[in-house]
Amino acid sequence: MRVVAILGSHRDGGDGSAAVQEIVAGLRLQETDQQTLVALNRCRMLPCLACDQCSEGDCVIKDDFETIMDEVKQADLVIFATPVYFNGVSSIMKTFIDRAQQYYAKPDSFSGKDRDVILIATAGAKEYEDQFEGVRLNFQFFLQYLQGKLWNFIQISGTDHASVSLREDVKINLQHVGQLWKERYDARG
Ligand SMILES: Cc1cc2nc3c(=O)[nH]c(=O)nc-3n(C[C@H](O)[C@H](O)[C@H](O)COP(=O)(O)O)c2cc1C
Repeated sequence: MRVVAILGSHRDGGDGSAAVQEIVAGLRLQETDQQTLVALNRCRMLPCLACDQCSEGDCVIKDDFETIMDEVKQADLVIFATPVYFNGVSSIMKTFIDRAQQYYAKPDSFSGKDRDVILIATAGAKEYEDQFEGVRLNFQFFLQYLQGKLWNFIQISGTDHASVSLREDVKINLQHVGQLWKERYDARG
């Protein structure tokens, strides 16, 4: 099994990182399984230049995006974690998403098998209307071009009050999601 987790936080060791850790714990990875953790804040990744070169050839930007996508192509499960920033994804997550313009321009250029996606969004304020709507809409569109099936969208509010790492109920729920996915994966054979 190959699992790739992509963290969109602008800081290390935050809520998204803690949440991913719990999902991975629930997956109970074996030695033969492969896990890759990508912290976008530690990557060299430029924004899309909107140069439109990708409609005819390859993307002109050569940076970590390509390497990350090579991992994604081979993954059985991709976990995305983004903080909610002004009701949307973080700016580095948006930079990552925008680089998929090359797959939008040439939909057949993203090869590989279909893959499941677990999306985690963490937000500081208590739950309010439309808090996760921007994240949902961005990913809904983006995943069409990744052959990604949104298997679970986990929304965690109120991290300003208590971070994920301090919330046992949230952590147990996250582990359970990982466990459920693993059982489903194993059942597929
Ligand atoms: C620039 C910025 C914008 C934010 N905007 C929102 C927001 O619109 N709604 C909300 O509930 N929390 C907002 N927050 C709080 C973060 O979503 C919250 O702290 C999140 O859990 C951080 O996740 P991380 O630790 O993985 O980075 C914002 C934080 C920052 C730094």
